[in-house]
Amino acid sequence: MSDFLEVTDLGGDGLASVLQLAEAVKNDPEASMEARRGSRVGLFFEKPSTRTRVSCEVACVDVAAHPLVLKNEEVGLGSREAVKDVARTLDRYLDVLAFRVFLHTNLVQLAEYADAPVINLLSDRSHPCQALADLQTIAEHRPLAGAVVTYVGDGNNVVQSLMLACAMVGAHIRVASPAGYEPAEDVIAEATAIAAASGGSVTVGSDPESLVAGADVVYTDVWTSMGQEDEAADRRVLFAPFQVTGDMFALAADDAIFMHCLPAHRDEEVTDEVMEDPRSRVFDQAENRMHSFKALLLYLTEN
Ligand code: CP
Ligand code: NVA
Repeated sequence: MSDFLEVTDLGGDGLASVLQLAEAVKNDPEASMEARRGSRVGLFFEKPSTRTRVSCEVACVDVAAHPLVLKNEEVGLGSREAVKDVARTLDRYLDVLAFRVFLHTNLVQLAEYADAPVINLLSDRSHPCQALADLQTIAEHRPLAGAVVTYVGDGNNVVQSLMLACAMVGAHIRVASPAGYEPAEDVIAEATAIAAASGGSVTVGSDPESLVAGADVVYTDVWTSMGQEDEAADRRVLFAPFQVTGDMFALAADDAIFMHCLPAHRDEEVTDEVMEDPRSRVFDQAENRMHSFKALLLYLTEN
């Protein structure tokens, strides 16, 4: 069984299988019931969560796996106990270790020391479970190959996984970020190489209007991610031109959809008007977190 620290860990065929499974379990929830009776899935949180915590727990129940939610206040990852010892201990009790952490390097260490698959529920580097739900949501709107997806805002964990996911399926991902807040160079390079083989493309710039023009999807995320709260005031000033407003959204294709991983900070990165627009798909995205996590669990415990 393999780990899922980034969406690329699935490979192209694996990603296609998970997306097909996600559609299948959404259309026929009964089909997944009892598929994995008895699998013990640890869901660990070092940061707050609503969607991930609830969608993953419900997904486990629906496939007859047993979820155990662990808070870092109990575990003390790397403080009460070394990360590698937590990995080897939980590995004796659990079949899947799903972790939301600050440091991506801790996920890598967990994966190194645990035989059970380790799933990334968000780190400072990436949010691949979100990217699965994002692809499922875009695919419900239009074919993934050739889709123009414009992300406006911070070059953070969410967009880094989104870039790789879009590149894998032949979509065109455009990212508009303030200078100095672009996605990491190595992620841009990896996504660009993947896109070159899939027929997609990667564009990174700092002019949101020109990058939103004609897009099929306009996507944003918070300006200040969990753990960056000290920077919030500065970021509010710096990111102001990157707010997704009705005027900016109007530059996209007529039938474009708006996406946000949530939680949203209304009237910071996106206006209330755009959040409430009939073309906003943010709650479909949130729902798809549950279906795509079920699919991922079924896939990882089979392969
Ligand atoms: N999108 C997402 O991961 O939301 P939570 O932080 O509420 O889990
Ligand atoms: N970029 C955000 C995503 C939350 C789901 C954060 O890391 O806080």
